[in-house]
Amino acid sequence: MPQNFGLPVHPNPQRAASRGLIQCFSKMNSFRAVRMSFYSHHIFFCTNERDDGRPSCGHRCSSELRDYAKKKIKALGLNGQGRVRVNNAGCLDRCDAGPVVVVYPEEVWYRIDSKEDVDAVVAEHVQGGKVVERLRV
Ligand code: FES
Repeated sequence: MPQNFGLPVHPNPQRAASRGLIQCFSKMNSFRAVRMSFYSHHIFFCTNERDDGRPSCGHRCSSELRDYAKKKIKALGLNGQGRVRVNNAGCLDRCDAGPVVVVYPEEVWYRIDSKEDVDAVVAEHVQGGKVVERLRV
């Protein structure tokens, strides 16, 4: 969820959020606007398919795993503004470690090989707030 740095949030937070801002008032009642992240987590799946014979995430089922992650996030009601977004990425230049995923804002890289790995990242990282060390690259 967006941080308000311990300050009261604007009385119309939806309007403030639609403008990409959290508007707060300090203890001295001076107005302050704070930029917030549009999503709490952004998960990028490399789906690049190389045609030069080198390893690539797209040849290791990353698109199918991305689709599964999107469905999982939606089924859990975690999708949407202020929550979680799953996207494609082109080559992230970690091809030998793939299929790779990077989760922001923590900037944690994972190798995701299965639906069980997706489940772990969603449950442990996104929902639980803990890095899944066994999948980290
Ligand atoms: S093909 Fe996925 S990191 Fe390069």
